Amino acid sequence: AFASFKEVLLDGYKNGYAVGQFNMNNLEFTQAIIEAANEEKSPVIFGVSEGAIKYMGLDYTVAMARVAMESSKVPVILHLDHGPNRDLVMKCIKAGFSSIMIDASHYPLEENIRLSREIVDLCHSVGIEVEGELGRIGGTEDDLTVDERDATLAVPAEALRLVQESGIDALAPAIGSAHGPYKGTPELAFDRLKEIRDLLPGTPLVLHGGSGIPDADIRQAISLGVSKINVNTENQLAMTHVIREVLGKDANVYDPRKYMKPARDAIKEVVKEKMRLFGSSGRA
Ligand code: G3H
Ligand code: ZN
Repeated sequence: AFASFKEVLLDGYKNGYAVGQFNMNNLEFTQAIIEAANEEKSPVIFGVSEGAIKYMGLDYTVAMARVAMESSKVPVILHLDHGPNRDLVMKCIKAGFSSIMIDASHYPLEENIRLSREIVDLCHSVGIEVEGELGRIGGTEDDLTVDERDATLAVPAEALRLVQESGIDALAPAIGSAHGPYKGTPELAFDRLKEIRDLLPGTPLVLHGGSGIPDADIRQAISLGVSKINVNTENQLAMTHVIREVLGKDANVYDPRKYMKPARDAIKEVVKEKMRLFGSSGRA
């Protein structure tokens, strides 16, 4: 069976490491991520966004994650990333997802609390745990784009209300990271993160936009209560870079395995590095 989201995150929270959420975009991502987790003996979270579900199909998504989980000894979680509404949440639960993110961060606080509460009630009644989001994380992920000017940091007092009033099991506060590649060096608001951590002792925090953040900042975030870090873009960049390289070198290549295999290896290397950086290696 898939592992418990809360248990996995709380172990990281208590022991000062973070579990990586690596987004699943196709078969090669799935294989690369689980192989990395096996070799690193690390717990792992497959994150699947609405766009990725549209691309892979819900049944293929769950089937691939299940095969990965069943073939592995490490704790594996299948998590809906940035769940937009009750409808998709229901579909994912029925299909076999093991945890859910409800992203109502674009709504005013009251509506964020209301929708998150509704999803928590629904999910908890079937033993599924929930991640919520506060503030607006900038950048682009799939169909979700938040303009830099619209990105806002999470307000600590609101974080307290969202967690207490909705009952979410983990909180993703916007602290200045962004989805997609960074233009410059990201500046994380560690003061906010610390305030939020102090207001919400025991609540695992989630860092989105984990690609391209300097190692020292990742370590500092983990020391301030971050126990789940989401990575997608660095894997996408690694895969695409290799494919470009292989095709650029030899115009006669036509067998997709000739470039997909090294591309898959490149993703695996990125994931392994992240697991070491996050401190999740050797925890499974
Ligand atoms: O939800 C997914 C992650 O936040 C992706 O972040 O674009 O920096 O890899 P990333
Ligand atoms: Zn995200």
